[in-house]
Amino acid sequence: MSLLIAPSILAADFANLQKEVEMLNSSQADFIHVDIMDGVFVPNISFGIPVMEAIHRHAKKPLDVHLMIVEPDRYLEAFRNAGAQIISVHFEACNHLHRTIQGIKSLGAKAGVAINPHTPIDFLKEVIQDIDVVCMMSVNPGFGGQKFIENTYDKVARLKELILSKGASTKIEIDGGVNLGNAPKLLMAGADILVAGSFVFNSPDPVATISELKSIRMV
Ligand code: DX5
Ligand code: ZN
Repeated sequence: MSLLIAPSILAADFANLQKEVEMLNSSQADFIHVDIMDGVFVPNISFGIPVMEAIHRHAKKPLDVHLMIVEPDRYLEAFRNAGAQIISVHFEACNHLHRTIQGIKSLGAKAGVAINPHTPIDFLKEVIQDIDVVCMMSVNPGFGGQKFIENTYDKVARLKELILSKGASTKIEIDGGVNLGNAPKLLMAGADILVAGSFVFNSPDPVATISELKSIRMV
């Protein structure tokens, strides 16, 4: 089984967004990962709903939206209307995570929960069966181009065990510092989806780089 690849549009050239989305359309990418940062939950501001709508107008791949914002419940419907097919909220930003997950599903989107590097996977134990995707942060969220945190491999393996022990079909997505060096180990540890921003967009041939990530197999 091959990995699903979700290039992060955060690393794209925003002055040529249509061209960048069309490049992803022509690639083997499975999703387009859309990073929304509010300057409160994370120390950076990316872009908001109008830009997301513009991406959606040109995208032929499903949009995987990663909300790095406080009080995400207030904006779920707006992001769904703007074209989100997967909506991930941060565990650390939700007081009533179960309710938020149900809220995402009631809008007809897949429900994702993102966890920061310091957040133990045990905190997902009671809701894992309700979650379509766990977005495991392998950097501290807020910026592209950061260094991958090595503890992630072990954390993925433990999350995979939890998912299997509960008979859940939750997918594991890894977000931050992903490249061709760590991707095979992430697949071996149990990852299903890899987000890659700077590694894809800073490469001389992003379409070829996406194909290379896509062609990684279990050894
Ligand atoms: C980090 C974002 C990531 C980021 C990944 O806060 O959630 O999705 O864009 O970028 P790279 O692959 O450059 O670490
Ligand atoms: Zn992200």
